[in-house]
Formats: sequence, C-alpha cells, structure tokens
Amino acid sequence: MQTKVFKPDQLAAAAAELAAGELVAFPTETVYGLGADATNEAAVKKVYQAKGRPSDNPLIVHVADVATVKQYVATFPTTAEKLVQAFWPGSLTIILPLKPGAFSKTVTGGLATAAFRNPRNQVTLDLIKQLGRPIVGPSANTSGKPSPTLAAHVLHDLAGKIAGVVDDGPTGVGLESTVIDLSTATPTILRPGAVTQADIEAVIGSITADHHQVKADEVPKAPGMKYKHYAPNAQVYLTAAADFKAAASWARSQSVPFGLMATDQVLSQFSALAPAYRFSLGDSITTASQRLFDGLRHYDQLPEVKLILAEEFPAQGLGAAYMNRLAKAAGQKRFEKTNDN
Ligand code: TXA
Ligand code: MG
Repeated sequence: MQTKVFKPDQLAAAAAELAAGELVAFPTETVYGLGADATNEAAVKKVYQAKGRPSDNPLIVHVADVATVKQYVATFPTTAEKLVQAFWPGSLTIILPLKPGAFSKTVTGGLATAAFRNPRNQVTLDLIKQLGRPIVGPSANTSGKPSPTLAAHVLHDLAGKIAGVVDDGPTGVGLESTVIDLSTATPTILRPGAVTQADIEAVIGSITADHHQVKADEVPKAPGMKYKHYAPNAQVYLTAAADFKAAASWARSQSVPFGLMATDQVLSQFSALAPAYRFSLGDSITTASQRLFDGLRHYDQLPEVKLILAEEFPAQGLGAAYMNRLAKAAGQKRFEKTNDN
C-alpha cells in the first residue's frame, strides 16, 4: 500500500479514506495519532495490526466536541463537566463508563469504560467533523517505539501499512496527553502529561495519581502500563545538568561512542564532540518535551552509539511528564557521580 501524505487542505481525501475503513494518521498538539473510524470494528482492528499492538490495550476515542462523548457514556459526572470546560480542546484524556455496547470490544479492550480526548489541533478537529464520527487514535508509532512528533516519524514506522498521514508539521507539546480515570470514586491520573495534577486539582480539588511501574503479575489500571516501554538501542542515563562533565568523562572511559541529549547551555561545554552526538533539547522543559522523542529516534539511527546521557529536569509541572517518559527509556538508570554506574 502506498501511504499518501495529505496537506491540511486535503482533508476531504483523508476523511474519504477513513470513511472507507482505511487508516490515516493525524496530528494533535501532543503526538501524531493513528486514526480509524471508531464505529467501524474492521477498521479499528487494522490499527492493532499496523502498530503490532496487543489487542487488550484500549484506544483513545478522539472527538470534535463534548456532545459526542455524552452520546456514548453512561454518566457524565460534574467532575468531567468541569474538566472539559477547563482543558478541552487540550491534552487531557478522560476515562468514563460507557453505555452497554457503545463501542466494539476492539476499541475498549473489553473494558466497560472508554478514554475520550478532544485534541487541540484544528486540522484534526475538522477531519473528525468531516468524517462525522469519532476516530480512535493510539500514538502512530510501531508498538515499542517512541510516539511520533513529526509526520516523518509516522512514515518511518508505518509507511506501506496505512493509507495516509495528514502532515501538520511538528506537534506542540511532544508528550502524550494526561490520562485521568473518572470512572472510579476518586479521580486518578493514570499517565502524567502537560495538564498537571496541580492544574486538575485547581479545578476539581484533591485527586490521586497512580502511574507506578506495573509488576508482571499485576492487573494495571491502564492496560498500556503493563507493556514493556520503549527502550532505545543505546543505554540512556538520566544526567543532572551539573554532572554532564563528569558523566562524559566516565562515558569516554567506557571506550564506546556516546551521545548527549541536553539543553544548549550544557551542549556548549562539548563543542569538540561530533554534531551527530550532540542532540539539542533547546533551552527549557518546554522545548525538551517537544524534542525528547525525536532525540531518542535520532540515536536509534546511529547504531554505534551505545550510551546516551540525557538531561534531567525537576519532576514538577511538565517536568513530571518529561521525567516519566525519560526514566522509562532509561530503565530508571541515572548517572551518579559517586559510584561506577
Ligand atoms: O496524546 C495522546 O493521548 C495520544 C494522541 C494521539 O491523542 N494518544 C495516545 O494513545 O497516547 P495511546 O494509545 O498510545 O495511549 C493511551 C493510553 C494507554 O496506556 C491505554 O492503555 C490507556 O490510555 N487507556 C485507553 N483506554 C483506557 C481505559 N478505558 N481505561 C484505562 N486506560 C485506558
Ligand atoms: Mg502510545
């Protein structure tokens, strides 16, 4: 199958593919999603095949408005009302109990709930409106690879397997949405994202968070949490900005090519290192979040690189989401000045 690249002004053609039961990747403000008509089970099945995704890991249903969500759910609590008022369209995915049979098991992974999201990307909102139905959309990467933040990442993983991708340039946030479960007595954050716990608590009061590393025999709240997360070819070490010099000396002593992922301020101390081994995270947690997945993909193209020193940020605000993804890619490994790693 030849994968077409649609420009934002070619939405009619993209919507026609979706209506015909084909897969079209779409832009959002977080990462690119892999779209299929949520009401067409055969189309949704193709999403799992194209990604190589386990079939019990449910998909997010993307909607163009709140009214669509209300058609499908058993209840729409006050907390949901307040959260969508405050954060939609935007990077908050809400899990709600469904009316029986609202979606096929292929969408929900057999759960009685579904995850809903109203992305902050006008092109995709228009695409959903043109289709006239919600679209499922997991991140548009091969299962086990970093989420795509560019159409080129989507093509790298899925060219030949999907009908098309709508290219709207780089995504804004760069990390997947915050997922909050509103189907339980106390709202619980299952995945941290750009909408932070503090942002949410300012609107609905105290909540909990549960995105610990799930053990092999545990039943996780978000099925996706039990799967092995993306691990780059190289070993990543979380590294404090102040420790980069020491970390680089240690990496050099290992006699293997190593790469850096750091802010420009840190990289400026390493101008002798080959440019390909100095991936810039920009100058802030905002740019670092935008570029993190691109950086990990960059080093996967350089098989000689065996170690990556990646800059830590305080795990607050957007930093909590950034560190959650980076720590998983690092298998929780951190460069410590005092031991021999
Ligand atoms: O930013 C995002 O959320 C992107 C863009 C494309 O919207 N999408 C995305 O989808 O990251 P995905 O499939 O890669 O991650 C969805 C997560 C998975 O961990 C899944 O297990 C969880 O949400 N999830 C989906 N439905 C659920 C449900 N009913 N109950 C609990 N967890 C659910
Ligand atoms: Mg994903």
